[in-house]
Amino acid sequence: MNDRFLRACRREPVDRTPVWFMRQAGRYMKEYLEVRKRHSILDVCKTPELSTEVTLQPIERFSLDAAIIFADILLPLEAMGLNLEFIESKGPVFHNPVRSDADVERLIPVDGESFGYAGAAIAMTRKALANRVPLIGFAGAPFTLASYAIEGGSSRDYRLTKDMMFARPDLWHALLTKLSNGVIEYLQVQIHAGAQAIQLFDSWVGCLSPDDYEEYVLPHTQRIFTALASAGVPKIYFGTGTATLLPLMRKTGCDVMGLDWRVRLDEAWATIGYDLAVQGNLDPLVLGAPVKEIEKRVRKILQQANGRDGHIFNLGHGILPHIPVDAVEATIDIVHQFSTREVEV
Ligand code: CP3
Repeated sequence: MNDRFLRACRREPVDRTPVWFMRQAGRYMKEYLEVRKRHSILDVCKTPELSTEVTLQPIERFSLDAAIIFADILLPLEAMGLNLEFIESKGPVFHNPVRSDADVERLIPVDGESFGYAGAAIAMTRKALANRVPLIGFAGAPFTLASYAIEGGSSRDYRLTKDMMFARPDLWHALLTKLSNGVIEYLQVQIHAGAQAIQLFDSWVGCLSPDDYEEYVLPHTQRIFTALASAGVPKIYFGTGTATLLPLMRKTGCDVMGLDWRVRLDEAWATIGYDLAVQGNLDPLVLGAPVKEIEKRVRKILQQANGRDGHIFNLGHGILPHIPVDAVEATIDIVHQFSTREVEV
């Protein structure tokens, strides 16, 4: 099996830098759009056959080093009783957001059985992958989930989220505890079903000050990684805008830190410490540039990683819908070409 990705997570030597992309299955691929013509995003997530089909699309098309299960971070919120709808031009919307004591109170506790479809999708995808590449499971981190639950959808300034955090810390912690319980169950189902690594997406946590991260978020994220430690699979923690939060984020107990493009990879790695692996960190919009420019920028990131064991190449956030598939293919080839090295394994 191609285990470059798992080896890099464990900071073991690899023959070339492994590469995968967040949102590697998605609207930039015509195969995906074809499936979405007939099925809603929630249908795809909840039907193991469809989830497997879409997860495999980029694996069949490109020489990626890992697959990520097709699902969404918002599914556990739906299982907890929030009414989720994906609106074409607006993104996700919750029609009954969580803002009061009663709202937090009425959240339904979830257990493994709430996520039967997720386990089935992972098991089916593992079988279809037949050990070609490892499969990554994932969940949203408690802060990022809380922001969707409280705002009722995407947000620009996270005003309502911070209103609760600052005015009602007791309610905030009660909410994050409940969300974290759900995330632990959701990830455990995925690991038991065969996920070989997991990634926790804290996409919007970069809107917090370091002190607020430490007080209102860190204990919850830490509890999730601690609960999963005995499972023995690598744990990736990803956020954007996290330059000032990285030293605190490493205290969560993750094995791999996801980096966005607003930091230099070499400086971030030195800050975090070389006892963690790193993943990143090309600006997703670089994939819209001419191939020569992509090459220049990919090589810069590889130079910053400096051949050190424990670098996984990725974008600093997800692939955007307008990106040409040829650019994705070219980027993967460039990573492989310029990172090939002699190793004893
Ligand atoms: O990476 C992969 O290939 C796996 C699939 C995946 C999806 N969502 C499918 C999806 C993953 C890893 C996610 C995670 C996710 N979902 C995050 C964290 C990563 C990030 O982008 O920050 C977040 C914040 C969400 C919530 C979410 N889901 C939003 C804000 C949206 C709408 C925005 C958009 O791009 O339209 C979704 C819908 C969604 N989830 C899409 C995909 C491919 C696009 C919708 C569609 O196909 O119509």
